[in-house]
Amino acid sequence: MADNLLEVEDLAAGYETKAGFVRAVDGVSLSLAKGEFLGIAGESGCGKSTLAYAVMRLLRDGAGIRSGRILFEGRDLTALGEAAFNEYRWTRMAMVFQSAMNALNPVLSVEEQLMDAVLAHRSVSKAEARAMAIEMLHLVDIHEDRLKAYPHQLSGGMRQRVMIAMALILKPDLLVMDEPTTALDVVVQRSILQKIGELRRKFGFSIIFITHDLSLLVEISDSLAIMYAGKICEYGPSRELYVSPAHPYTRGLMSSFPSLTGPIVRMGGIEGQAPGLLYPPPGCRFAPRCSEAKPICFEQVPSLAPAGEGRLCACRLNGGMA
Ligand SMILES: Nc1ncnc2c1ncn2[C@@H]1O[C@H](COP(=O)(O)OP(=O)(O)OP(=O)(O)O)[C@@H](O)[C@H]1O
Ligand SMILES: [Mg+2]
Repeated sequence: MADNLLEVEDLAAGYETKAGFVRAVDGVSLSLAKGEFLGIAGESGCGKSTLAYAVMRLLRDGAGIRSGRILFEGRDLTALGEAAFNEYRWTRMAMVFQSAMNALNPVLSVEEQLMDAVLAHRSVSKAEARAMAIEMLHLVDIHEDRLKAYPHQLSGGMRQRVMIAMALILKPDLLVMDEPTTALDVVVQRSILQKIGELRRKFGFSIIFITHDLSLLVEISDSLAIMYAGKICEYGPSRELYVSPAHPYTRGLMSSFPSLTGPIVRMGGIEGQAPGLLYPPPGCRFAPRCSEAKPICFEQVPSLAPAGEGRLCACRLNGGMA
């Protein structure tokens, strides 16, 4: 579709190990419209970070993309040479990393780091770069008297805001955020998410926000992709997934957190562990943990297929027949 900023098509990516190739992302497809907020959720090890790294082309040393395409405004990023891709990374698409709070350089002040980010990619004067740094700090609610501060002089929430300011200072079209708030307390997490939502409305960039905590995403994201063992098992508008999750795994995740407004229910949680990705089991990867699984689920891989209300579901029992 012409309006889509990003299209990921049947992407396979992972890590070469002595024992073989770990397919951490296995046949993932998704699309992101301009200005859309996509949340990606799933348990630890399901491939969320690998997907983000693949999109940013940051997989190195035996890690990489095996097949599939990543189209940014229709152009296949996987086919670009490194120099051509560098025109996209940080300027058109930026990422805030999982360990973002500690990713700031400890020996450089906030001002130096923000200005360096600008000067590395734009031919502007130092005064202009400083003005951009101040403007961006204001946007993330940090007073400019913090410009000379070093990372250790800032609270965790402030460091996180500085990282977001760094990622946004070149006004990218896509912001990829990998668990950017997990090390923060819940109140700070929420205020940072609200801030990101506010900046998105102001600048119109698209967001991919990755977390294992689905409860953070349901209110703020437009769409949700739920990942399990390297694959997307349910994908669609957040509201629909929240109100009527179709995949048993999504239902398990949704019942693992308390609703703010609904009746009090027992916290669900899902028994068991996700499979290893070196030799994933045949059939549906969730079947061994699924209370609804039938014999066919252990034999045939379900593909993502329309399951009503604009969503796709990969479950033989709940719409995703294909
Ligand atoms: N460098 C590596 N070498 C081999 N396997 C790896 C490597 N990094 C990650 N993996 C494997 O790839 C799979 C996906 O990892 P990934 O970090 O993408 O998961 P994640 O969903 O981001 O998890 P988390 O929520 O813990 O951050 C896991 O099974 C992991 O063990
Ligand atoms: Mg991760």
